[in-house]
Amino acid sequence: MAKKLRVGIIFGGRSGEHDVSIRSAASVIESINRRKYTAVPIAISREGKWLSSAEAVNLLPGEAQSLLPIIRGSNSQDSVAILGDPSYAGLLSLDQKGGAANSQQLDVVFPVLHGPFGEDGTIQGLLEMANIPYVGCGVLASSCGMDKVAMKLLFLQAGLPLCKYVWFLRSQWQSDRAKIIKMITRKLGLPCFVKPANLGSSVGISRANDKASLERAVNFAARYDRKIVVEEAVDAREIECAVIGNNEPRASLPGEYVIHDPSAAFLDYTEKYSKTGHVEFVVPAALSKSLTTRIQKMAVQAFQSIDGSGLARVDFFLTRKSNKLLINELNTMPGLTDVSGYPKMWAASGLSYAQMLDLLIELALERHREKSQNKTTRA
Ligand SMILES: Nc1ncnc2c1ncn2[C@@H]1O[C@H](COP(=O)(O)OP(=O)(O)O)[C@@H](O)[C@H]1O
Ligand SMILES: [Mg+2]
Repeated sequence: MAKKLRVGIIFGGRSGEHDVSIRSAASVIESINRRKYTAVPIAISREGKWLSSAEAVNLLPGEAQSLLPIIRGSNSQDSVAILGDPSYAGLLSLDQKGGAANSQQLDVVFPVLHGPFGEDGTIQGLLEMANIPYVGCGVLASSCGMDKVAMKLLFLQAGLPLCKYVWFLRSQWQSDRAKIIKMITRKLGLPCFVKPANLGSSVGISRANDKASLERAVNFAARYDRKIVVEEAVDAREIECAVIGNNEPRASLPGEYVIHDPSAAFLDYTEKYSKTGHVEFVVPAALSKSLTTRIQKMAVQAFQSIDGSGLARVDFFLTRKSNKLLINELNTMPGLTDVSGYPKMWAASGLSYAQMLDLLIELALERHREKSQNKTTRA
């Protein structure tokens, strides 16, 4: 039998989605094919410290813990690191004085990190430097997928339909609020949605219905980012589509967040992760065949417009009155928890969680092989 691949699963991280990342990683560890892969847990604390595998295991829920090999001989005080120097190409244990104690080989890394410092090209940059294959989008696609302003520009360039929006800097808001409020009400009107440009899981997002709530919403978003996006509020169904692949990506059957309780004004953090019962993710979404095909085509175009690889989830609005399809956003490391849309859409499209992981790891290796064909010298 072929040698088991060692898969570094990085989770936690310095973002507001730290806890979601732990849940996503737990699902990955629970579903990964243990005959083919050895999962090596690597956790990053909220402060950015890389924790030893022994400490990383402790952050996981009991079921995921029980599936991991017993980690022997690791001192829980030790920390670990991946270095940009490709000659180490693995996980280095650091002793208490910060010296390198030993290194463990990693054949591939799965950065199961959501939001800033994980989904935004930063960890991808480190893994490129280290020359370790990794699951998901590269540096460019990750950072463009994280920044809602850059993402919208690439979507527009690809001819994809979006809702009306404006953006500005926190410094502009701080120096002339009246001017910004005037611009928003003139270009978009109210109600509108105010968002930090670089976040996820609805953190920092709120709906503004009047000028007073608009001011509060911008102040709130400005706590999270130096760039703020404001969009017209659309009355729409929320449809999602999963994409997988590198140069020839394919799209899943679309799913839909169906809101059962009007008290859930929008998909905020609680509605997304707390099983409130107000919303339900339904796959396949109740859509005509032609609309399903259009969504799948647009999801692939959105993926290609940011130069995606591996995976992404593309989120749409389907307006209730005029049945207009708009792209809301793309997530390069979508939630992978047991309640998340991405794995559910693949399951409904015939790809189990374990098969999806297999394919994602294969795509990571393929992308790495393809890149290593590039010449790096002039001669
Ligand atoms: N322009 C909009 N009109 C109506 N609802 C919106 C709009 N933008 C966002 N929302 C609501 O807020 C949620 C989170 O917004 P989104 O842009 O997807 O941010 P995140 O990256 O945090 O998921 C959406 O799923 C939707 O419920
Ligand atoms: Mg979203």
